[in-house]
Amino acid sequence: MNYTFFLLLLTLVHSTFSSLAPTDQAALESIRDSLTDMPGSAFFSTWDFTTPDPCSTFSGLTCTSLGRVSALSLGPNLSGSLSPSISNLTHLTQLVLYPGLVTGPLPPRFDTLPLLRVISLTRNRLTGPIPNSFSSLSYLHTLDLSYNQLSGSLPPFLTTLPHLKVLVLASNRFSDNVKPVSSPLLHLDLKMNQISGQLPPLFPTTLRYLSLAGNSISGTIIPLEPLTDLTYIDLSMNRFTGAIPQSLFGSTTTSMFLQRNNFTSINATSLLMLPQGSVVDLSHNSISGELPPSLAGAESLFLNNNRFTGEIPEEYIKSLVNGTTKTLFLQHNYLTRFPWNSGSQLPDSVSLCLSYNCMDTDPVVGLSTCPIEVAPLLSRPAIQCSRFYNHSSTG
Ligand SMILES: *[C@@H]1O[C@H](CO)[C@@H](O)[C@H](O)[C@H]1NC(C)=O
Ligand SMILES: *[C@@H]1O[C@H](CO)[C@@H](O)[C@H](O)[C@H]1NC(C)=O
Ligand SMILES: *[C@@H]1O[C@H](CO)[C@@H](O)[C@H](O)[C@H]1NC(C)=O
Ligand SMILES: *[C@@H]1O[C@H](CO)[C@@H](O)[C@H](O)[C@H]1NC(C)=O
Ligand SMILES: *[C@@H]1O[C@H](CO)[C@@H](O)[C@H](O)[C@H]1NC(C)=O
Ligand SMILES: *[C@@H]1O[C@H](CO)[C@@H](O)[C@H](O)[C@H]1NC(C)=O
Repeated sequence: MNYTFFLLLLTLVHSTFSSLAPTDQAALESIRDSLTDMPGSAFFSTWDFTTPDPCSTFSGLTCTSLGRVSALSLGPNLSGSLSPSISNLTHLTQLVLYPGLVTGPLPPRFDTLPLLRVISLTRNRLTGPIPNSFSSLSYLHTLDLSYNQLSGSLPPFLTTLPHLKVLVLASNRFSDNVKPVSSPLLHLDLKMNQISGQLPPLFPTTLRYLSLAGNSISGTIIPLEPLTDLTYIDLSMNRFTGAIPQSLFGSTTTSMFLQRNNFTSINATSLLMLPQGSVVDLSHNSISGELPPSLAGAESLFLNNNRFTGEIPEEYIKSLVNGTTKTLFLQHNYLTRFPWNSGSQLPDSVSLCLSYNCMDTDPVVGLSTCPIEVAPLLSRPAIQCSRFYNHSSTG
């Protein structure tokens, strides 16, 4: 998702000469008064209000041919707050605040800015909720408010904006649940907030990037319509339970992070084809059953700290030997056999961890290269490997 580049491109386009409309001039003066360059920063050095032509001399400013501000990019390295007068720049299509220490709330009035397509106010210290007036941004394409201290619930109108494609609210203090999504989103990033509740059943099938990591979302994932364009999904560090639906394993998904939840099974058919170079992390869940052979196509496969039983599929070993799989972590399960042919050889680059399973250790010693934090305890206590052992009673 290269929208940062898109922003830069728009910012670099210089306007032709036009005198700035008085309302916009007044608004800019007020915006200027509420912000300060941090030590070492000289963003406002070009903002001289006695000049006849702010449109072509102020940094961060683009105007229409009629002298109305169409794009405003502030910073980086500013402090202060965002003036409510931003709402007077009624021809604004793009509002950007680069990283800095700007505090305080978002301007309350966005209903006066119906042409806005891009709002990007990241990595500052903005606080408070998303104003209700965002509901009138019917042309909004990109909203990035990530890495601030914004709070309140995710407003229901946000994910129904008809043109919204990129929504990034990562690392704030948003709470409450994810509201139903009907916007044609390509990129949804809500990671590291305080979101709870269950996921709404319908997700836009247009999604390519989805991150909800590091929240408190619970419940099962209702089988979704296949997300045919999804390349990146991160649901790690939540409280999801139940089966991992097959629809999450899209044929385009190269990164899948579902670790540190409470999933109990995988619904992955034998027909599953993981794309080349994919990373699948299902570690630290409560998944039981046998290892799905279809996951053998991953380049990095983390299935450790679950309740997998049975033998390791031949396919996993073939993939290690032929170089398809470079990292395979299976430690802390109840696996019984690694069908190793002593004539085979593993490529040097392979990382394989098999500690703390129910295997005969012989073929495995010397092959296993566990990360240092894994105790070198090779096998589980024999009692946990008994046929009659209740796997639900330990980790
Ligand atoms: C912005 O517009 C409002 C309403 O038209 C007006 O009262 C206010 O003075 C304007 N602010 C600036 C800085 O011009
Ligand atoms: C902004 O501040 C950072 C950290 O102090 C510094 O590395 C960077 O060069 C500054 N950028 C500008 C444009 O002043
Ligand atoms: C997973 O579920 C078990 C029992 O259902 C519960 O005791 C445990 O705290 C849960 N773990 C997480 C990380 O939610
Ligand atoms: C998993 O597969 C089973 C059997 O095919 C089916 O009944 C169940 O609904 C599936 N669950 C999910 C979450 O896809
Ligand atoms: C490596 O082995 C796996 C598992 O048998 C197979 O699916 C894959 O096509 C093989 N890849 C190569 C490059 O031979
Ligand atoms: C296994 O242990 C869990 C949790 O302690 C318990 O709820 C369950 O009834 C046990 N199952 C059997 C078959 O004993």
